Amino acid sequence: MTQTMESVMVEDRQADGILAGIFASGDEAQAAAARRLAETIRGKAERGKKCVLGLATGSTAVGIYQHLIRMHREEGLSFANVTTFNLDEYYPLEPTDVQSYRRFMFERLFDHVDIDPANVHLPSGTAAVDEVTAHCAEYEAAIAAAGGLDLQLLGIGRNGHIGFNEPGAEASSRTRMVHLHPVTREDAAGDFGGINNVPATAISMGVATILSARQIVMVALGAKKAAIVRQMVDGPVTPDVPATYLHRHPNVAVFLDEPAASQLR
Ligand code: F6R
Repeated sequence: MTQTMESVMVEDRQADGILAGIFASGDEAQAAAARRLAETIRGKAERGKKCVLGLATGSTAVGIYQHLIRMHREEGLSFANVTTFNLDEYYPLEPTDVQSYRRFMFERLFDHVDIDPANVHLPSGTAAVDEVTAHCAEYEAAIAAAGGLDLQLLGIGRNGHIGFNEPGAEASSRTRMVHLHPVTREDAAGDFGGINNVPATAISMGVATILSARQIVMVALGAKKAAIVRQMVDGPVTPDVPATYLHRHPNVAVFLDEPAASQLR
């Protein structure tokens, strides 16, 4: 078990399929996640195959992408074989808006590596209302046509959301329009200059979309995630905490810093 983790890890523990690695700092946890992504990309490239990544936005992802950019510049990590599908996008929102996840991904990662922009996919924040259902079905079809997700990167919301699968999300859910939970909107309020400016809705991959990935890597950092990390790792599977659905996946690694791990039994 420890061999799959890095030497900087302070401790690891396994609960019902979820392997949690606890690192001395957030940066080390982010670096470990970046290495996992890089290994997956290189492993596929060595076999002449495309690598399909499910990606996340949010503050936790920023440091992971900084490590990937550094590996691209210093270690020759190439994204030429990479296709990406992001978890979610606010709706409605223009792709040029500062809060847009499309803009986030280009500014934080894609503009700095050798990925072909044609291989980048995010749900649209501008699809017409009556076209959203078809757009979501096309997003799912595009993931399937790409061969499915080799690795899905996740963060976790304080309410246990994964992607924007908020409390109550069904295990069978696929990409669809979702209503954002008050805690999610509160956490996004800073980015939008007040909670009233945070969109009420978003388009998110579903729980079933996420669980269809061959490998899942979650990173959770900081004391404010400690209570929900404990519920995810030690609690029963419940729609009230969508991250607990990860217990149903055979290959999940959770990378934590010590504050985020502080309430684990
Ligand atoms: C982002 C996403 C969310 C975040 C989660 C954690 O695309 O889907 O589930 O991963 O809200 O966000 P941070 O990292 O900002 O705490």
